[in-house]
Amino acid sequence: MQKTIVLGVTGGIAAFKAAQLASDLVKKNYDVEVIMTKNATEFIAPLTFEALINHNVIVDTFEKVANRSIHHISLAKKADLFIIVPASANVIAKIAHGIADDMLSTTFLACSKQKVICPAMNTQMYENPVTQDNLKRCKELGYAILEPAVGHLACGDSGKGKLCDLSDILDYVEQFFHRSDALKGKRVLITAGPTQEALDPVRYLTNHSSGKMGYSLAQAALDMGADVTLISGPVQLQPPKGVHFYPVTTAKEMFDAVCTYSKQADFIIKAAAVGDYRPVHVSEQKIKKSGDRLHIEFIKNPDILAYLGEHKQDHQIICGFAMETQNLLANAQKKLEKKHCDMIVANDLHTEGAGFQSDTNIATIIDQTQRIPCPKMSKYELGVTILKHMLALHKQGEQ
Ligand code: CTP
Repeated sequence: MQKTIVLGVTGGIAAFKAAQLASDLVKKNYDVEVIMTKNATEFIAPLTFEALINHNVIVDTFEKVANRSIHHISLAKKADLFIIVPASANVIAKIAHGIADDMLSTTFLACSKQKVICPAMNTQMYENPVTQDNLKRCKELGYAILEPAVGHLACGDSGKGKLCDLSDILDYVEQFFHRSDALKGKRVLITAGPTQEALDPVRYLTNHSSGKMGYSLAQAALDMGADVTLISGPVQLQPPKGVHFYPVTTAKEMFDAVCTYSKQADFIIKAAAVGDYRPVHVSEQKIKKSGDRLHIEFIKNPDILAYLGEHKQDHQIICGFAMETQNLLANAQKKLEKKHCDMIVANDLHTEGAGFQSDTNIATIIDQTQRIPCPKMSKYELGVTILKHMLALHKQGEQ
């Protein structure tokens, strides 16, 4: 069922970013309702939001809203989530103390659903103990605070107070709505990131994997109630809180860690971009520059997914990934069969919105009987889709 997000917009230079957020949420099929304070309309026109969300925007000319008592109650009831972006120091002060003197603060007070505050203001205002006390009070009241970022602010100052990234708000929304017990009692093993193979003490061979897909899968599995083990090559990401985390560097180390932890796993997802070869000899000293050409001999690494497929246990569902640059579906289908997995997630490196560094992905899930296209979505959302499909295969196997 479609979820409704009430988006409160207050006066601040970041108000224009709320329009982008509204548009992103609508694209993700959320029903978005917008309430603006009068000051917000000085920064962005209500019409901008109306064109994006396909509803009338409630603008805070309180006395002009007919049946206002009914209106704020109906929106408060309709909301599944209430977000204020940007949240000014003024609105934070009001909601921390239950002041309801305009449409936004009144609807907020009348709403019993989860609330999210995204502060954005001048650094001095943000750091003022009064604002900090109000934010503390908001936290105590159970409101989620998405902390502002440090940066150059519109007022010319530099410091904390910049609206957090819209991607952080979108991730919060997606995680909020996907939280469930669907995987309670299930053990999920995920590999993520690249592997690195040393050539000498200075250099190594690797690939462009960012780990984002694997880490998003780990977060999604946690949010669905699973016990999650994450084995990761070197990446710039923090492991999600609550996972059993095992960092590795080489393909051989990843293979050993997978062998240790895979036996108990119910679902195994190989999102890692494993190096297929490693140098036969790792030089103990730095390789010095010599002739015009350098020849290095490589030897094959273990194929971890193929090994898991060969040793698959009855209770396991195994999912591989196929990153291709040509003949996507045919190549992915071959991997499904050759590596004996239950499903493969195929994606094309050359498609815009897919690929290693991107926050989104476009993929096709391939199993023994069907091909399911997954249009452009966040890696977290794709993670949820993959896990739901694994669960469906697991349930089919039980019948
Ligand atoms: N994989 C693995 N161990 C390897 C190589 C790949 O476990 N040594 C896994 C990957 O984690 C992924 C799947 O196999 O889930 C497919 O990886 P990919 O690199 O697309 O395919 P390869 O099998 O390496 O084949 P090729 O490089 O020829 O496309």
